[in-house]
Amino acid sequence: MMGWLSEWWRGGSAVVEPATLRDAARLAQLHGASFARGWGEGEFESMIGERNTLVHRLRLGGKTIGFAVSRVGADEAEILSIAVDAAYRGRGLSRTLLMTHLGHLAGRGIRTIFLEVEENNQPARRLYERAGFTVVGRRERYYKQPNGEQLNALLMRRDLS
Ligand SMILES: CC(C)(COP(=O)(O)OP(=O)(O)OC[C@H]1O[C@@H](n2cnc3c(N)ncnc32)[C@H](O)[C@@H]1OP(=O)(O)O)[C@@H](O)C(=O)NCCC(=O)NCCS
Repeated sequence: MMGWLSEWWRGGSAVVEPATLRDAARLAQLHGASFARGWGEGEFESMIGERNTLVHRLRLGGKTIGFAVSRVGADEAEILSIAVDAAYRGRGLSRTLLMTHLGHLAGRGIRTIFLEVEENNQPARRLYERAGFTVVGRRERYYKQPNGEQLNALLMRRDLS
């Protein structure tokens, strides 16, 4: 019992799979709860259906609790968004999600991956740094918050060998 419980807590039974059109509503809900400007169900449907976009869902115990989205072009990709349901954060699940997503990008011949992250977003920065991304640029006042606050963005890059 305790072994199962500790495995569950570490996220051992999490599964990362390609998203389907039926996931669009749930992914929009997760996105809206995680970011100031949420993406709608229709936006997710478009991205899931497009050939140049890669969308993965993170499932745990039969429930979709996260997603990762990248746009690909030639041998480069940009991670557009990644999120884990707030109730499931802090268990290392985003690492499982990101590493699987990167594996699929590598499988599509992607050699370089970029992303932007808000400078003060420590969980995201830690996630990306641990996954081998390095800071290659900084954009001042890049994110405009609903309250008028302007936050800096870091541009990160990882090369896949
Ligand atoms: C970013 C996000 C996906 C991370 O998901 P998660 O499953 O909670 O992440 P993990 O549990 O794998 O933790 C990631 C790292 O951040 C660290 N971390 C977690 N909370 C932290 C905090 N408040 N301050 C500093 N570091 C923190 C963890 O210790 C871990 O680092 P480690 O591997 O060295 O121990 C999640 O916080 C999220 O969905 N945030 C909202 C959306 C978002 O900001 N997405 C990123 C946009 S670029």
